[in-house]
Amino acid sequence: MNELFFLGDPELDAQHADLFALMARLAASEHSPSPEESAGFVLGQLGELLFQHFKSEELLMADLALPATIFSRHAEAHMGILEELAHIHWEAMMGQAKPLLDIIAIARRCVEQHLVEFDLMLKPYIARAAAKQGTILTQT
Ligand SMILES: [Fe+2]
Ligand SMILES: [Fe+2]
Repeated sequence: MNELFFLGDPELDAQHADLFALMARLAASEHSPSPEESAGFVLGQLGELLFQHFKSEELLMADLALPATIFSRHAEAHMGILEELAHIHWEAMMGQAKPLLDIIAIARRCVEQHLVEFDLMLKPYIARAAAKQGTILTQT
């Protein structure tokens, strides 16, 4: 994963790295013997991983004392991504799948664009919380 995407929180950074690894598998499914089936499987995994990741991220966000609008817009964006991917997955299961390359592009856009537009905004808050924690630790 590009280090520009690192937020400074080990759990979130590891989850983001897992997401990028799964996106790479999704992209590779284009070359599998049964691309649609592989993409469907990976999309299912992506939905689960994103659901868990968004839960972790929102728990951390609740501890960061973010302005309420930043928190709510970010959480809404998470919901939007889950809905969009669930819809694509449902279409695929109903035999009305979009072309695989479109699915790959949409999933990548959802994850990467969200990271840039929303997650990176958390970086200074995470750094501030870590600095505060460091201060508390050095005082005790
Ligand atoms: Fe996020
Ligand atoms: Fe994230």
